[in-house]
Amino acid sequence: MSAILQPPPEVNPLQDPLRFDRRVPPCAMVIFGASGDLSKRKLLPSLYRLFYERRISPSFAVIGTSRTKMSDEQFRDRMKESVSQFLEDAPFDQDVWTSFAQCLFYVAGDINDPASYEAIQEKLGAVERSHETAGNVLFYLSTQPSFYAEVVGLLGGHNLNHGNGWRRVIIEKPFGHDLTSARKLNDEIHKVFDESEIYRIDHYLGKETVQNILAFRFGNGIFEPLWNRRYVDHVQITAAEAIGVEGRGGYYQEAGALRDMIQNHLSQVMATVTMEPPTVFDANNVRDERAKLLRSVRIMRPDDVRQNAVAGQYGPAKVGGQDLPGFRQEPSVSPDAQTDTYAAVTFFIDNWRWAGVPFYIRSGKRMPKRVTDIAIQFTAPPLGLFKQQTRTGDVANPRPNLLILRIQPEEGISLRFLSKAPGSGMRVRPVSMDFNYGSSFGERSPTAYETLLVDAMAGDPTLYTRQDMVEASWQIVQPILDVWANTTFDFPNYASGTWGPRAADEMLARRGHMWRNA
Ligand code: BG6
Repeated sequence: MSAILQPPPEVNPLQDPLRFDRRVPPCAMVIFGASGDLSKRKLLPSLYRLFYERRISPSFAVIGTSRTKMSDEQFRDRMKESVSQFLEDAPFDQDVWTSFAQCLFYVAGDINDPASYEAIQEKLGAVERSHETAGNVLFYLSTQPSFYAEVVGLLGGHNLNHGNGWRRVIIEKPFGHDLTSARKLNDEIHKVFDESEIYRIDHYLGKETVQNILAFRFGNGIFEPLWNRRYVDHVQITAAEAIGVEGRGGYYQEAGALRDMIQNHLSQVMATVTMEPPTVFDANNVRDERAKLLRSVRIMRPDDVRQNAVAGQYGPAKVGGQDLPGFRQEPSVSPDAQTDTYAAVTFFIDNWRWAGVPFYIRSGKRMPKRVTDIAIQFTAPPLGLFKQQTRTGDVANPRPNLLILRIQPEEGISLRFLSKAPGSGMRVRPVSMDFNYGSSFGERSPTAYETLLVDAMAGDPTLYTRQDMVEASWQIVQPILDVWANTTFDFPNYASGTWGPRAADEMLARRGHMWRNA
């Protein structure tokens, strides 16, 4: 008996799998590309906020590094400007800043110059003593992606991957430019860091609303029985942005919407919506399920690509009285660029739960508004007892139930169902049952970067992508990239401020469906 009744395993608070009361150990964070955009807009504001809320250890230091020549003081001044500018929904507090600024240091240097790594080594030693960072180091690679392998190699060459404490590396997206380069990059990084030390960031996985998909599905008993091919007719995942490429023309021209959004963010969102329940909520179990799902996505043949993938590029237009340039007129973009600023794909998941259900995924720049959501359309009732009167007075079968998981800017969940309209007769109308984060919880949600930075410091990679997940998601977009690389598109094919090219509507119409352009 006693051999069977084992005492419960002791919970290590740093590994608390449900991430309730996360305690973050002392550490130093080295940011490569510290004068870049990500650092200014996301990393430093998130770190400041975490410091303000005492969610990181007081024994903490940041060492920024990039080519720009700056002293520690100048780096602090620059970062102060960025933090006060980009702090979302939060006031800037001068006293907190003064303490936070004491944790910021800077090393100027070329990332391919070995001397830079010696200087980083030295600074790490200094902050370990002055800020008691316990030898724990988190490297953050936010440089141009083409430097990732080299930086990691040099970290290894200078033995910076080992020390008194733990060593981890966060790698920003894009992770590779295609399947081959992603595999190669994985191989290069594995020469220096163990998989358990590699944190590939996909900030969508850190969004509260994306994490809530798992709570919604697996914390409730009533939705999961419907969550399959018997009750779901199709799913639409939309990530629309009203902005254009915002000065990132050079990068974007080489990337395009399929690589920039669908290969990573939206395929991870799709996996979150469709994966099987993990047996335990921990990093390996959750990631095993995501990876398994991504491996079940049907790999298209070239002919399927023509049917199931649509590329678009925005042209110039007057929107809200403002003249907006087309993509080809944006700075650093070639006048005959073949880049997709819009991509729509129909995926099929070949497993028992989802066989035959189309997943329509789209993302585009310069759409009419910013909205990211997942719409799950359920099958119609077997018998149409109630007809619905449309706005034009026609009588039609009522619109089927729709569950919308709202990721941003509205954050919440809506369920559309039919209700009897008041009055005589059985007139039915769609109504909506809404949950809204703001009004239900009344507190600020942490940003994705705040969540993910804390997780990496605490050593929890649940919301980071693993090698097999990244390679599987490249695998599903690779056939599309290959066909598109050999296609000359008649771009531009949608005007700024519209919902994308007609071909994307036709793709859905072939299966009797329509995009929800709400
Ligand atoms: C980034 C893409 O990863 O995600 C950008 O490179 C895109 O092009 C951004 O604008 C969207 O993120 P969010 O959190 O604003 O939806």
